[in-house]
Amino acid sequence: MLTHHLLFTVSCLLGCSAESYVIDDRIGLGREFDGIGGLSGGGATSRLLVNYEEPYRSHILDFLFKPNFGASLHILKVEIGGDAQTTDGTEPSHMHSKDEGNFFRGYEWWLMKEAKKRNPNIKLIGLPWAFPGWVGEGTQWPYFFPNVTADYVVTWIYGAKQHHNLEIDYIGIWNERKYDPVYIKVLRDTLDRVGYTNVGIIAADGDWSIAAAMLEDPYLNDAVEVIGVHYPGTKTVKEALLTEKKLWSSEDYSTFNDDIGAGCWARILNQNYVNGRMTSTISWNLIASYYENLSFGGDGLMTADEPWSGHYVVESPIWMTAHTTQFTQPGWFYLQTVGNLTHGGSYVALTDRKGNLTVVIQTMTHNHSQCIRPPLPHFDVSPQIATFQLKGSFAHLTDLQVWYSKLDFETKKDTLFQRSSPIKVYNGSFTLKLDVDEVYTITTLNTGQKGTYPESPKSRPFPKNYSDDFTIDNPPFSEAPYFADQTGVFEYFRNSTDNGSHAFTLRQVVTEQPVTWARDADQTISIIGDYSWTDLNVSCDVLIETPVTGGVFLAARVDQGGESVREAKGVFYWIYANGTYKVTNDIGGQRVLAEGLSGTREGVWYTLTLRVKGYFATGMLDGYPLWKNAVVLEPKNGWTALGTLSFEYAQFDHFEVHAE
Ligand SMILES: *[C@@H]1O[C@H](CO)[C@@H](O)[C@H](O)[C@H]1NC(C)=O
Ligand SMILES: *[C@@H]1O[C@H](CO)[C@@H](O)[C@H](O)[C@H]1NC(C)=O
Ligand SMILES: *[C@@H]1O[C@H](CO)[C@@H](O)[C@H](O)[C@H]1NC(C)=O
Ligand SMILES: *[C@@H]1O[C@H](CO)[C@@H](O)[C@H](O)[C@H]1NC(C)=O
Ligand SMILES: *[C@@H]1O[C@H](CO)[C@@H](O)[C@H](O)[C@H]1NC(C)=O
Ligand SMILES: *[C@@H]1O[C@H](CO)[C@@H](O)[C@H](O)[C@H]1NC(C)=O
Ligand SMILES: *[C@@H]1O[C@H](CO)[C@@H](O)[C@H](O)[C@H]1NC(C)=O
Ligand SMILES: *[C@@H]1O[C@H](CO)[C@@H](O)[C@H](O)[C@H]1NC(C)=O
Ligand SMILES: *[C@@H]1O[C@H](CO)[C@@H](O)[C@H](O)[C@H]1NC(C)=O
Ligand SMILES: *[C@@H]1O[C@H](CO)[C@@H](O)[C@H](O)[C@H]1NC(C)=O
Ligand SMILES: *[C@@H]1O[C@H](CO)[C@@H](O)[C@H](O)[C@H]1NC(C)=O
Repeated sequence: MLTHHLLFTVSCLLGCSAESYVIDDRIGLGREFDGIGGLSGGGATSRLLVNYEEPYRSHILDFLFKPNFGASLHILKVEIGGDAQTTDGTEPSHMHSKDEGNFFRGYEWWLMKEAKKRNPNIKLIGLPWAFPGWVGEGTQWPYFFPNVTADYVVTWIYGAKQHHNLEIDYIGIWNERKYDPVYIKVLRDTLDRVGYTNVGIIAADGDWSIAAAMLEDPYLNDAVEVIGVHYPGTKTVKEALLTEKKLWSSEDYSTFNDDIGAGCWARILNQNYVNGRMTSTISWNLIASYYENLSFGGDGLMTADEPWSGHYVVESPIWMTAHTTQFTQPGWFYLQTVGNLTHGGSYVALTDRKGNLTVVIQTMTHNHSQCIRPPLPHFDVSPQIATFQLKGSFAHLTDLQVWYSKLDFETKKDTLFQRSSPIKVYNGSFTLKLDVDEVYTITTLNTGQKGTYPESPKSRPFPKNYSDDFTIDNPPFSEAPYFADQTGVFEYFRNSTDNGSHAFTLRQVVTEQPVTWARDADQTISIIGDYSWTDLNVSCDVLIETPVTGGVFLAARVDQGGESVREAKGVFYWIYANGTYKVTNDIGGQRVLAEGLSGTREGVWYTLTLRVKGYFATGMLDGYPLWKNAVVLEPKNGWTALGTLSFEYAQFDHFEVHAE
């Protein structure tokens, strides 16, 4: 039990002075609290989580969602997959084309159900980053026909209820892209017409500019329930306050999940309300479950990017979250008595209006709490003594529970979310001796738990020998384990008229360029393996489906994915339906290392084998050498990958890799 930091009487030694803060509800309450959340997607950030074996997968989900256990999140925000690259991969759309719908693709449905299983009250939000090409009618503008886009989005909400019994609470517009007031009104109207009057619109998931527009346009103002802003640096703007709408930091954090990430997160969870009156903060991302060498590797609240080993790490941001989430709920209210501490740091106080009180105090220093963006203006924090006087409904409280964290950057021995001896309140006040880089929760709630599981298995690299023949009946997920789509969508495919060895395959299914969010490649590509791989043999059966112009590739040493997938270099072995092959050093096919005749065409299965060793690469077609010793100077390492020449159907089977 920790008692050293609790002073039960104010005994100020020479030079010290106790500052006094009042916690009072007699002057009325502040804003309603809407919860702390995590964002899965934007994109493909939970890709590897689904491939964890039990019990590890359930353990991880418990650390995220289980009440009184870990992060105990109040909100889960997910990407509405749009078949396009959205930072660390692509997520599949529920409607690849206008005439079809499938509500079992990807992993967001599954994740929402797992979250609800643990916390039936968790709020769900959906937001598109990208859209299938047909939604833009061939343009890059999803508002071209606002009704088409609204119907598409509302179909996703419908599918959630119909197929998964999930009720979506909030829906967004288009992530970090221009909003269109006409579209927002059409979306509101479409939602209302089909009875989704309870689904609130969050807009516009970018900067604050929509606030001024809402003040000018009462219909727009009516349509929007929540102003959602990204990376606000804890500050708001006058116009936003004037709308009197709920203000949320609907995407924030995005910082590597070490102790500085934890400091960032603890600081903004308080300051977003203290400075910006924002009543919800949502972390991008929920969990770092994507290959760590993709962009923003390790930026989740915790890390689980090794499903092949079962290894995961509950990082300190999980426990910073718990300080607020385990002792508040959406529907509680902030008090008006919140603010900065005299010697740096801040406190917020919340109540359920039934007599419970939770106070969260943080003293993160500037250097130890910088988020990835925006730049943090300088401020000072020093050790201090703070007295809190409880008034109004809280004047009579006699005992308060204490939860304590300290990020110790000197000894590296953190204290994380530790329960301390309860505080005795004397004459309506209590006093804390606050050091720097600490978080305290002082609460009437007797609940709260630092959940634990046996340590996860040891970290191991991706297996050097790996194969998949994609033969599985009723796969639980549409994607094959560990394949991480970077442009296009690769799904399990069952060919019911084929009884042979290609009855079950992996198929690329995006056939037109999506309305993109990032700079997708013109080719489709799915990566797999270990980024440090250099020398290896990889083989795969491939089927080109498009006559004349079709083509597929198998690749090694692929050095980029995510938003820079267009610039990916590596060794790309292509065969084309026109009877030729190429070996290129880049996905764009500009740097040709070898080329010639292959006799390949559409509708025929071929086995491609690619062998890279040192500076040389060799390719085989159906077991016979087709080209030899192409010289590969760069890159030295990277993932293996497969893909297609354009947005076209193609199939893959019997994938096999042996790395050295
Ligand atoms: C589009 O949606 C709006 C609002 O729901 C509706 O008033 C309008 O008739 C629709 N237009 C078309 C072309 O369907
Ligand atoms: C609290 O302190 C921070 C850091 O100095 C400052 O940016 C912010 O404006 C202060 N907030 C209030 C409400 O005074
Ligand atoms: C506080 O919350 C607990 C748990 O929700 C509840 O049982 C209790 O009635 C609330 N009020 C007080 C004053 O403790
Ligand atoms: C904060 O970091 C800067 C740059 O690394 C360094 O110069 C400064 O001394 C640090 N300040 C403290 C208080 O550690
Ligand atoms: C109790 O607190 C009040 C003000 O909050 C103060 O006036 C009074 O002197 C205190 N009593 C004792 C015994 O400390
Ligand atoms: C990997 O596969 C190669 C060739 O099939 C085999 O010789 C080797 O023993 C395998 N290594 C492991 C670790 O299974
Ligand atoms: C599949 O198998 C059935 C029964 O063995 C046979 O009748 C049918 O012709 C086969 N179809 C193909 C495409 O080989
Ligand atoms: C399915 O298999 C049949 C029989 O092998 C073949 O003719 C057909 O092209 C295949 N369909 C697709 C989409 O691959
Ligand atoms: C992959 O990322 C990790 C973590 O950022 C880094 O330590 C490692 O060096 C990277 N691997 C390569 C081969 O660049
Ligand atoms: C075959 O197709 C590839 C890919 O489009 C192209 O680069 C090549 O020039 C074509 N070759 C012939 C002979 O048409
Ligand atoms: C790759 O294939 C060659 C030729 O079969 C073989 O000598 C080599 O050991 C293989 N390398 C790996 C890593 O399996």
